Amino acid sequence: MRIRTFAEYQLAYEQSVNDPEAFWAEVAQNFHWRKPWTKTLQWNFEEPNIKWFSGGKLNITENVLDRHLTTRPNQPAIIWEPNDPAEPSVTLTYKMLHDYVCRFANVLKRNGVRKGDRVCIYMPMVPELAVAVLACARVGAIHSVVFGGFSAQSIADRINDAACSVVITSDGAVRGNKTIPMKDTVDDALIGCPTVQRVIVMTHTRTPVAMRKGRDVWWETEMKQVTSDCPAEEMDAEDPLFILYTSGSTGKPKGVVHTCGGYMVYAQYSFENVFQVEPGDIHFCTADVGWITGHSYIVYGPLLAGSTSVIFEGIPTWPDAGRFWDVVDRHKVTILYTAPTAIRSLMGFGLDPLKNKDLRSLRVLGSVGEPINEEAWHWYDENVGKHKCPIVDTWWQTETGGILISPLAGITKTKPTFATLPLPGVQPLLVDEAGKEIEGNGVSGNLCIRFPWPGILRTTWGDHERCRQTYFSTYPGLYFTGDGCLRDEDGYYRITGRVDDVLNVSGHRIGTAEVENAINMHTGVVESAVVGYPHDIKGQGIYAYVITESDTAHEADLMRRDILATVSRVIGPIAKPDKIQFVSGLPKTRSGKIMRRILRKIAEGDTSNMGDTSTLLDPAVVDAIKAGAV
Ligand code: PRX
Repeated sequence: MRIRTFAEYQLAYEQSVNDPEAFWAEVAQNFHWRKPWTKTLQWNFEEPNIKWFSGGKLNITENVLDRHLTTRPNQPAIIWEPNDPAEPSVTLTYKMLHDYVCRFANVLKRNGVRKGDRVCIYMPMVPELAVAVLACARVGAIHSVVFGGFSAQSIADRINDAACSVVITSDGAVRGNKTIPMKDTVDDALIGCPTVQRVIVMTHTRTPVAMRKGRDVWWETEMKQVTSDCPAEEMDAEDPLFILYTSGSTGKPKGVVHTCGGYMVYAQYSFENVFQVEPGDIHFCTADVGWITGHSYIVYGPLLAGSTSVIFEGIPTWPDAGRFWDVVDRHKVTILYTAPTAIRSLMGFGLDPLKNKDLRSLRVLGSVGEPINEEAWHWYDENVGKHKCPIVDTWWQTETGGILISPLAGITKTKPTFATLPLPGVQPLLVDEAGKEIEGNGVSGNLCIRFPWPGILRTTWGDHERCRQTYFSTYPGLYFTGDGCLRDEDGYYRITGRVDDVLNVSGHRIGTAEVENAINMHTGVVESAVVGYPHDIKGQGIYAYVITESDTAHEADLMRRDILATVSRVIGPIAKPDKIQFVSGLPKTRSGKIMRRILRKIAEGDTSNMGDTSTLLDPAVVDAIKAGAV
């Protein structure tokens, strides 16, 4: 399974393209299967219908936990670093984690959870979050983790879409000096969620909560009622493992579905090879488990590989901007995996926060979630890696399950801002607008993948047609990523950003349509249009053009605040626009379509050449918007 040299990478890549089935069958042998698969791969990208390891039976938690019990029972599986550095950290060995997961799996069963049921998890970054995830997998329930920053409305939408029967949450969360009442938010969400029978509440912040009789139970009380004996449910390789909601260019977020067998194989394979994991590694991924990065590279990847994973509850800038370096120093972290936004924001604090922090344990640095600019790359390399740690700029998506294009640490020659080369099994290509392949090097186009890898999404929950339309219909026969990409003279890939109406704000994926819908919920708003613009720290900022019912001139500030509050309430604080411009009209074509190209240019501060505006219903609108740009 392990590639150790560039020549080995080239060989593995060649094999994976020439005979993908043989290649992945060999990789998959390294796992514990209750029953071997009968067919390695069946697929077409038309329906789409993708099945890996058909007929294979397994439970992913036997690979995450049980198989490590004989080899590394006392090795730390999880190191938890609390929000407050003055509080003690917690270490769970593989034996302890196995025990904990089995017990909580029994709690789930006691509360009516059965194979195939959907369970919503809305929790802070505590070890119990990983325990809840794995306990679901143990009993064959499908977990749907919702990021702790999402609003009650967003939770309700996700719960209802998947018809979840159980919610796991905690009384509250702490982030920096803020306490967030999680259970309260869940209570608000559940007003509109008829399918939820049970809420399991973990005590964390001791924030007062209202417990509803017959529905809500305490985690700790339940844990006292069960044993740690919980045989794992036998799952088919293609049974769903989890649903994770993500934003697209239209409508509400969709539930990306990953399945047990393929996801497992790809999560471990990509983790070990990209980061070149060694025994004793301490892996610190700073994402939240509520995003795919946390699923694959805090929970599943590292634990499948028998590594040690750090779960950090806090934020990079509290109590000061040296917190990441403090965590690295304290736990002797060897692999640090973070987002360009975090690097850019920490750069702003200068080098003082790095003083007196021993970062010599670091061996590999990773970047994920958005394009990394050259300045941030060099800062990371120089001040964190001290020019000794390879940087892996990993490109992938919620839909891909794991990293698809990335250097292998210390093996692939890196180039700042380039995700470099595809992993074995990944066959990228660039196409033009018409879907024609652009061959050769030194070219740009839309990034597609022509062949399935084990971690590819299988469907979108409850709406397979949406999956087909979103990913497999733009360019028939290909998986379309939604990203633009450049392939340079060396054949290296550089992701240039989304080519659809999806924003990437601080590495968080947000649809412009979603933000518009939220703004339009405000009673005083007639219509809005949202675009992204370059932002020094966040990568992209959100710029909203809003038409209001009455003249807002005298109360613009109030209206602005109200709109921000509405967006926070409908989606969550991460979707709040950075800039709001009140306008009297939007640039629409005669068929009523908003010409976003123009709005983007104005938001970028480039008002020089608006291009062809002759198809606009009222070209004068453009000048008015230009004049009022914020
Ligand atoms: O635009 C790409 C960007 O993030 C999108 C996927 O977002 P999400 O599903 O939330 O997953 C993020 C974490 C895997 C992609 O379509 N993206 C992700 N990684 C990179 C990136 N853009 C440039 N470079 C990357 N390394």
